[in-house]
Amino acid sequence: MQHTFITHLGEGFNRFTVSPLSLATTIIILCGGISLCHMLFFIDPLITIYPSVMAAGDVFGLNGQVEHKLAFLRDYVTRDTRLVLVGHSIGCYIILEMMKRDPELPVRKSVMLFPTIERMAVTPQGRVMTPLLCRLRYMAYLPIFLLSLLPDLLKSFLVKLVFRRLRSLDHSTVLPTVSLINTGFSPFISANAMYMASQEMLEVLERDNTTINQNLDKLVFYYGETDHWCPVQYYQEIKKDFPNGDIRLCSRGIRHAFVLDAGKEVADMICNRVVIKMQSK
Ligand SMILES: *[C@@H]1O[C@H](CO)[C@@H](O)[C@H](O)[C@H]1NC(C)=O
Repeated sequence: MQHTFITHLGEGFNRFTVSPLSLATTIIILCGGISLCHMLFFIDPLITIYPSVMAAGDVFGLNGQVEHKLAFLRDYVTRDTRLVLVGHSIGCYIILEMMKRDPELPVRKSVMLFPTIERMAVTPQGRVMTPLLCRLRYMAYLPIFLLSLLPDLLKSFLVKLVFRRLRSLDHSTVLPTVSLINTGFSPFISANAMYMASQEMLEVLERDNTTINQNLDKLVFYYGETDHWCPVQYYQEIKKDFPNGDIRLCSRGIRHAFVLDAGKEVADMICNRVVIKMQSK
C-alpha cells in the first residue's frame, strides 16, 4: 500500500529531473504516525549502521529518530544535492527538528503531509491514545507477544474484534494491523512503535514557530479536513500566523492514513506543487 505512494512519487520526480532540473534531486520520505501501518517506516533497519546514535541511547524515541535521520543524511547525501523531504504525520515534526538542528542541510523543499507538529495529546485521537500509550503500554506487551504466537486466522479475528470495540480509533488502522500481524508481525516492533508514540504525546507540544518562520519559503503544508490527529483549527491558526506560507487544506476528503487509498493522488499533488515551484526558481 505504501508502495503505491512511493512509486508514484519517484516516477513523478523522475519525469521532471531529466532536463530542467539537471542537478541530482534526492527525495527522502519520512513517514510516521500512530497508525500501526506506518510503524515499519520509522523502525528503520538502517539504525544498526549508526553506533553513535545507538550509544546516545533512545534510538526509538523521538530525539533518537531525529538524530538518526541527520546521521543518515550526513553519510549519504552531499551538500550540493537538492534535497526534498516528504514527511507524513510525526515525520513532519522530525523534519522540522532536523532543519532546526542542522540549518546547513541542502533542503530545497519540505512537504508536510497531515502534519502533527503541535499539541498532539489534546487532539481527539490524542485524548484516546495518550492514557493508553503512556500508562497502559506495558500491559499491552505481553498480549501482543502472545498474539504473535497464534495462527494467522485467529490473529486477524482477534484484531478485528478488538478494533470493533475501540470505535473512536481510526478505522483505517484495522486492515494494516491485520496484514502486519499476518506477515511476520514482530512483538518487538510493536513495542518500539508504542514507545515512540507515547513520546510523541509527551513531547509534541507547542508549534515551533521559529523554525517554521526561518524556513517558510521551503515548507509546503497539506492539512486534512477530517484529521483526528490534527483538527482543522490547527490549520486555521497556522494559516493566520503565516499568511505568506504555502499552507493548504485538503478539499478532497483525503484522510490521515492516505497511503491506504490515495497514495497516487497525494504523490501527484506533491509532484505538481513542489516540482513546479522548484522549476520556476
Ligand atoms: C507559536 O504560535 C502559536 C500561536 O500564535 C502559540 O500558541 C505557540 O505557543 C507558539 N509556539 C512557541 C514555541 O512559541
